[in-house]
Amino acid sequence: MVHVLTIAMAKGRVMEEAFDLFQQAGLPVPKADDLDSRKLVVSVPENELTFFLAKPMDVPTYVEYGVADLGVVGKDVLMEQSRDVYELLDLKISPCRMSVAGKPDSTLSPHPKVATKYPRIAEQYFKEQGQQVEIISLHGSVELAPIIGLAERIVDIVSTGRTLKENGLVEWCCIADITSRLIANKGSYRLKNKRIQKILGDLERVIEKEGNL
Ligand code: PRP
Repeated sequence: MVHVLTIAMAKGRVMEEAFDLFQQAGLPVPKADDLDSRKLVVSVPENELTFFLAKPMDVPTYVEYGVADLGVVGKDVLMEQSRDVYELLDLKISPCRMSVAGKPDSTLSPHPKVATKYPRIAEQYFKEQGQQVEIISLHGSVELAPIIGLAERIVDIVSTGRTLKENGLVEWCCIADITSRLIANKGSYRLKNKRIQKILGDLERVIEKEGNL
């Protein structure tokens, strides 16, 4: 019997590039119509793959709890959550940086506020720097915080740098380089190993061919 494999796919900036990579690797991907719809579960039954289209922050949860065998999600989310999953492969897609940014003013108050969607990453970074900060958790559009005076710094993803530039902000330093990763549930990795190894090999060949591995 062929095992059905479930894959939690992070919606948004990762998804398009990830499906492109899957397609190049000869793996089945959902039809464009299904991706344009509001469907959250999309099956490609001829190859026994089912995709869950999930919020990026929830992908490791689905994989850790085993409702998804595999997941595709940014390293930023994995760094923030430290979930009990295997990180199998750097897909080398959706490259960006986790950075500290803010107004061009370099002087900071002794105990500055830092706004972020990544409170654990931010807290750990400033602790390592020996800088006391107050972390303020936001859910998005974090760049608003320094503009309207909620925080002196933000910790956030910078991709093209356009959001910072258009809001008069600058990148002060890079905390980590980020790309998307393939992750696996630990039980699934054992029980469905043959199928997972095949997918891993197919993806690795494409990444290698593009000179990225
Ligand atoms: C991300 C990130 C920045 C922006 C950076 O936000 O949080 O705001 O993209 O990209 P850029 O450097 O190319 O401008 P996202 O679009 O995921 O939305 P959000 O802010 O609502 O989380």
